[in-house]
Amino acid sequence: MKFAITTEKVKESRISQLDPNNIGFGKVFTDHMFLADYENGEWINPRIVPYGPMSLSPATSAIHYGQAIFEGMKVFASSKNDHDIVMFRPTDNAKRLNKSAARLAMPEVPEDLFMAGLTQLLELDRQWVPRVEGGALYVRPYMFATDDFIGVKPSERYCFAIFCCPVGPYYNKALRVKVEEEYSRAAPGGVGFTKCAGNYAAAMYPTALAQKEGFDQVLWTDPIEHKFVEETGTTNFFAVLNDKIVTPSLTHTMLAGITRDSVVQSLRHLGHEVEERPLSVNELKEHLSAGNLKELFITGTAATLINLDGFGHDGQYYEVQKNGDNTISTEVKKFLDDIKLQHSDDVFSWNVVI
Ligand SMILES: Cc1ncc(COP(=O)(O)O)c(C=O)c1O
Repeated sequence: MKFAITTEKVKESRISQLDPNNIGFGKVFTDHMFLADYENGEWINPRIVPYGPMSLSPATSAIHYGQAIFEGMKVFASSKNDHDIVMFRPTDNAKRLNKSAARLAMPEVPEDLFMAGLTQLLELDRQWVPRVEGGALYVRPYMFATDDFIGVKPSERYCFAIFCCPVGPYYNKALRVKVEEEYSRAAPGGVGFTKCAGNYAAAMYPTALAQKEGFDQVLWTDPIEHKFVEETGTTNFFAVLNDKIVTPSLTHTMLAGITRDSVVQSLRHLGHEVEERPLSVNELKEHLSAGNLKELFITGTAATLINLDGFGHDGQYYEVQKNGDNTISTEVKKFLDDIKLQHSDDVFSWNVVI
């Protein structure tokens, strides 16, 4: 399918307002955004316009009934060529968006529309991809219901949009997480495996409580017994038990992270043994006291790969860092960074260079 995307350029770029050494996260937006509308069963009017406010009806369905899904991906400045920028696994984000769409009774976005909108937007705003260490362009594709109608039913109209933010590191220290045993972010049969807006709303109150107790994030456990570790609010979870790496097997209540998959494939490529299986909090504590728990780390597009300082459980804090020197997490982070920045061969063909 071919889509004729129209372009309305900004009169003057805002790029001179960007301080590449002090970018922060999610506060600065590039000059343009991509929009497409869904009406009468088809995607129409794909267009690139200046980034700016949208006009919405107060009855907009997404605000009331929550048909809103999103993705997060990153684009990097190539170290090989000053002009090139590198999208990391963008079609996996397109596929995951469509998994979310199906569960929320929303229309799918054809992968070629997703990629055409994304590529043309990036071609226009490529100078916004930061060329500083730890910098990237964070890309936010999303879709929401636009019917102005009161009544619970799937909307007939939708907006698919993409905007971009130059970003620096999301976290810059080892994190303290609280093992959550009271609240759940998702339930079996629910929408935990999707990237829908409501999942993040459900996590905010428990996360705020954990932060009041001095933690950075919540480590969610399974919603039935609260015994098995699942993921944090925005990342997947890994433990290094001696020389073996364990990550919780994916369940219906967890998001299948693209970084998680990249880390698993990279670790195996580097010759490490990786187990995807249920991992209980008790097992973590037993390995810690036996001296086998060498590293804990979390992975996500925004956070990249961050080590955990330790975890809180049952009113006690379990510090992990003292047992290990993060050898494995450092190795796999470098392996992945080298691929994204084109310092090394893209052995898995993950990069799309424009
Ligand atoms: C709940 C949750 N788990 C895991 C992840 C990590 O996913 P990815 O590596 O695709 O960014 C994210 C971020 O998207 C998330 O929001």
